[in-house]
Amino acid sequence: MTVDLSKVPQMTQTPAQHDERMQWFRDAKFGMFIHWGPCSVGKREIGWGRNARRPWDIGIPDPSDDTHDAEYDNYYKVFNPERYDADAWARFAKESGMTYMVLITKHHDGFSQFDTKLSDYSIMATPYGRDIVKPFVEACHKHGLKAGLYYSTRDWYHPDYLVGDNKAYDEWYRGQVEELLTNYGKVDMMWFDHVGGRDWGKWKFDELFAMMYRCQPELLVNNRAARFCGPTTPEDQGPESPEFEHMTLGDFYTPEGKIGAMDIENDWESCIHVGQGWSYRGEDGFKGPEDCIKMLASCTTGGGNLLLNFGPRPDGTFTDGEAAVARAMGEWLNQYGEAVYGTRGGPLQNGDWGGSCHKGNKVFLHVYEWTQDTLELPPLPHQVLAARTLEDKPVTFTQDEARLAVSVADTDRDTPVTVIKLTLDAAIEPGCLTGQAPAEQEADARVVGPPPGQD
Ligand code: GLC
Repeated sequence: MTVDLSKVPQMTQTPAQHDERMQWFRDAKFGMFIHWGPCSVGKREIGWGRNARRPWDIGIPDPSDDTHDAEYDNYYKVFNPERYDADAWARFAKESGMTYMVLITKHHDGFSQFDTKLSDYSIMATPYGRDIVKPFVEACHKHGLKAGLYYSTRDWYHPDYLVGDNKAYDEWYRGQVEELLTNYGKVDMMWFDHVGGRDWGKWKFDELFAMMYRCQPELLVNNRAARFCGPTTPEDQGPESPEFEHMTLGDFYTPEGKIGAMDIENDWESCIHVGQGWSYRGEDGFKGPEDCIKMLASCTTGGGNLLLNFGPRPDGTFTDGEAAVARAMGEWLNQYGEAVYGTRGGPLQNGDWGGSCHKGNKVFLHVYEWTQDTLELPPLPHQVLAARTLEDKPVTFTQDEARLAVSVADTDRDTPVTVIKLTLDAAIEPGCLTGQAPAEQEADARVVGPPPGQD
């Protein structure tokens, strides 16, 4: 039986439909990622901190290891986040300038943070005994945030994972994804996190995508639903067709732990943790607010989003270190949001000095380093009529065929970023990019929106 993929946008959408679907994501710029669960009790890294076998995956702790880690796998018995308050989380994210949130519903450790009929290893078996996901999605929407759910297909706990033809596991996890996309109202984003097993024949991604879009027609999906599928051996099956593979790459790609290289053609989102790991690892070792603000500016100017990760304490509260970063970013965005939300990356190539983004006939230069007193940049495609910093300080500017030169008095520069707003005599055209790309750009798994051949 062939699967009906006619409702799956990655298979059928035109470039215009794709642009329309991606609009909120492109405008959103800044989201909160939350890694949290029983592992937080032991300050152990979520998934990876579990010392047990990792079927078909790298980094196996010890081949003679058990399938279980007695300590890690029992944290759920004492996981009781009495202070979990989804409404407070969403208010906090909003005050910090975030426009969407993504919550771990099940990580590689196999623990379900939701009321699933398909497993007993879930939040319902903890002393807390209540669904974490439901209040989360409700609170996001109540506060005008988009709600995303992270789900790790890779599962080192489930006894059927990659056993035999993997059929049992493949059906089981799709059942869980269906629960997530059926029981919680509107879900705006599904954020997968890798599969194991290099053989495409072990997974029915067509069934997965058809089901997801039956449940949630407007869903966005990241690029990891089939990530790490091979084939790597002659026995492994590959993707059925380029279109099929393209479908599994979803809507955006996900540079991890780093800022994505500038890319204004494809949608992307960098995920980076503020603390020492993805989940709660203690009360110190956090990044500073200034670095995080620069990361957001780099993503924005580079054409992507920043999904900044927080690891709440086991009781459901945020650490002081993470709260300080979030608060500082909220304050910064209160003042500089105009140069972030709803903008598009470019038209200047990012460099050591910073980068640019634009909206209509406004170009915003985010300058982090005054490499020269007068910044010399490639000329913009339109005439500059006016320039001020976002703090409304004067900017000296000239533009000719060879260059755009701007300077701001020392005392009028701001840290960590001086933002200069240029008003042009015409709007920047979509896809416009000028200047030299830095020599080294690391390739990530990129996606192209509409299916091959429709561009
Ligand atoms: C990686 C890690 C995982 C983490 C994720 C976030 O896939 O395995 O621990 O949750 O990245 O991007």
